[in-house]
Amino acid sequence: VGGSVTLTCSVNKPRPVLTVSPSWLSPGASVTLNCQVEHPSAGWSFYWYKAVPDLSEKSSSYELLPDGSGTAQDSYIIHGQTHTAGYVCRAGRGDPEYHTDHSQPKFVWSADVHSAASLTVSPDRVQHFTSDSVSLTCEGNFTEWRVRKFPEDGRLSDCRRMTGSTCNINTSKSDTGVYWCESGSGEFSSAVNITVQNDGNGPILVSPVHPVTEGASVSLSCSLKTQKILSNVFFYHNDKLIQNDPRGELKISAVSKSDEGFYKCQYSGRESAQSWMSVKGEQDQNS
Ligand SMILES: *[C@@H]1O[C@H](CO)[C@@H](O)[C@H](O)[C@H]1NC(C)=O
Ligand SMILES: *[C@@H]1O[C@H](CO)[C@@H](O)[C@H](O)[C@H]1NC(C)=O
Ligand SMILES: *[C@@H]1O[C@H](CO)[C@@H](O)[C@H](O)[C@H]1NC(C)=O
Repeated sequence: VGGSVTLTCSVNKPRPVLTVSPSWLSPGASVTLNCQVEHPSAGWSFYWYKAVPDLSEKSSSYELLPDGSGTAQDSYIIHGQTHTAGYVCRAGRGDPEYHTDHSQPKFVWSADVHSAASLTVSPDRVQHFTSDSVSLTCEGNFTEWRVRKFPEDGRLSDCRRMTGSTCNINTSKSDTGVYWCESGSGEFSSAVNITVQNDGNGPILVSPVHPVTEGASVSLSCSLKTQKILSNVFFYHNDKLIQNDPRGELKISAVSKSDEGFYKCQYSGRESAQSWMSVKGEQDQNS
């Protein structure tokens, strides 16, 4: 019996892992990048880049950050970041210098809808049923766009079904994630969370995709695929039961910072997923 053995020998360059903290920008906060190499030891130097969207190549190019070339520290701090952005790092050591691969890109997301580019979601809510048609539309004064998704498993992808500046999805569980737009001229839009329900027969929470401004009113509700639920809904804020309203709606007439957090609804023994409702201060409006 003839047999053959194939030995595959691959010499993969090590790839550092970048972490970005926090993931969501808050006004005035600094962003810390951290680049981890597999065998940390003295002698590594680190290179820090921002991702610049390149739509023609269906990729991104990387641009060195200020003073981001060959730092001795494995972390890098960015002050005054206000928009969604992507970052990459790599490491090098020795003479002549040996370089690792670039890390996978990581992002810091801004919810700020006042930036030059923004993303709207239709239907306008965070949670969606499975097999819903959802469209994500990029808005801003640019001609070319791509919509990017960073799902829970962290594998960045681009929307495959773009019509003009709109991405159409037929939702499945794997569409849960963070979405944003990138323009042909390198602008990043505000980012949104999208959650596709786990329980096909259960309710979804209907809550705003974009941050709510302090003092504004907001109304949360609970919906089944077939109908909006009009009674006997329980609402939870950060896992605490806050209301069982006979009208099936949670209305907050003047939102304050303390209303920020996770919400979910429950109906007939079934719970929706929970979603974050973000509250922005009136003073942050022009940031
Ligand atoms: C998205 O969800 C995360 C928590 O999972 C939250 O911190 C962030 O503010 C949310 N973004 C928006 C735009 O609501
Ligand atoms: C859009 O961009 C074009 C070209 O850069 C510029 O001439 C025009 O004034 C812009 N329109 C708006 C509404 O900003
Ligand atoms: C979405 O999925 C449904 C059922 O699988 C299918 O009938 C429909 O054509 C799909 N819509 C789009 C836009 O792909």
